[in-house]
Amino acid sequence: MAEYTLITGATGGIGEEFCFQCAARGDNLFLTGRSEKKLAALKEKLKEKYPDAVTESFPCMLNDEADRKKLFDYADGLGAKFSRFINVAGVDTQLAFEKYTQEKLLFQLRVNFEAAVSLTRYVLDRRADGLGILVVSSMSAVCPMPYFALYSATKSALVNFYSALRTEMKEYGVKVTVLMPGGVPTRPDIIEDIKIQGLKGKWSSKPKDFVVRKALKGAEKNKRIVIPGFANKLTYALTRITPVKWAIAFVAKNWKNKEKDAF
Ligand SMILES: NC(=O)c1ccc[n+]([C@@H]2O[C@H](COP(=O)([O-])OP(=O)(O)OC[C@H]3O[C@@H](n4cnc5c(N)ncnc54)[C@H](OP(=O)(O)O)[C@@H]3O)[C@@H](O)[C@H]2O)c1
Repeated sequence: MAEYTLITGATGGIGEEFCFQCAARGDNLFLTGRSEKKLAALKEKLKEKYPDAVTESFPCMLNDEADRKKLFDYADGLGAKFSRFINVAGVDTQLAFEKYTQEKLLFQLRVNFEAAVSLTRYVLDRRADGLGILVVSSMSAVCPMPYFALYSATKSALVNFYSALRTEMKEYGVKVTVLMPGGVPTRPDIIEDIKIQGLKGKWSSKPKDFVVRKALKGAEKNKRIVIPGFANKLTYALTRITPVKWAIAFVAKNWKNKEKDAF
């Protein structure tokens, strides 16, 4: 029975980097993303670099419960066990809340939180000894973010939930780590965002290979939270001692005119 590292959001910028770094560690990979075509292309790239790596994949709209069930059935058909679960999939729509439609808000909530929790429950029942769970949150979780409120709330829900789960699962030898990256230049719109932020963007953003390396190292050491980069660690520390209303006012002023609707 094969043991796999399950990676969601494998076809995105950070997810793909996890695929390559996990393949380099000798993991068997089970990848999921929305597009079958992108998954096939990714498998080809992985095979070129790591011809011996075992890679399974299954396309899944993670916001859709019925689609998630198909993913579970496919993995069960393989008799898969999981030694690592890396939840990367996420939707970073950034809008004033009154501009959201019901469809848009449910999509973001379901991908960012419901799917992560649902897949975690599935993986726990099929875990190999010493399962490691690594979930991608964001620095946007550190304080409530007006005009990016839903994203920030889902990312802070991940920190909350997985920090609690970590304690529940300790006695079973399951490690749980949450990654909180600042900017990571992946999609063109994110690269542009980081550029617009000037020095602050330059200071707080880190390349995906650095972020993923730190994440895997932190997970190995069973850290609760991994924050890649000194600037982000400093921001995190400052938000612990700054009155929340000041932090919220700062975000509101700086985020009011930004909109992103990439999904
Ligand atoms: N980049 C940053 O600056 C940054 C900073 C902090 C946190 N993060 C977090 O890091 C994660 C990855 O970000 P990224 O920059 O790599 O973004 P990305 O390139 O857009 O990747 C997002 C991934 O999620 C998948 N996805 C989106 N909606 C989905 C759905 N309904 N069902 C299944 N999969 C879905 C995408 O599939 P497709 O390939 O089909 O689009 C893609 O694989 C996200 O959770 C994001 O919130 C990113």
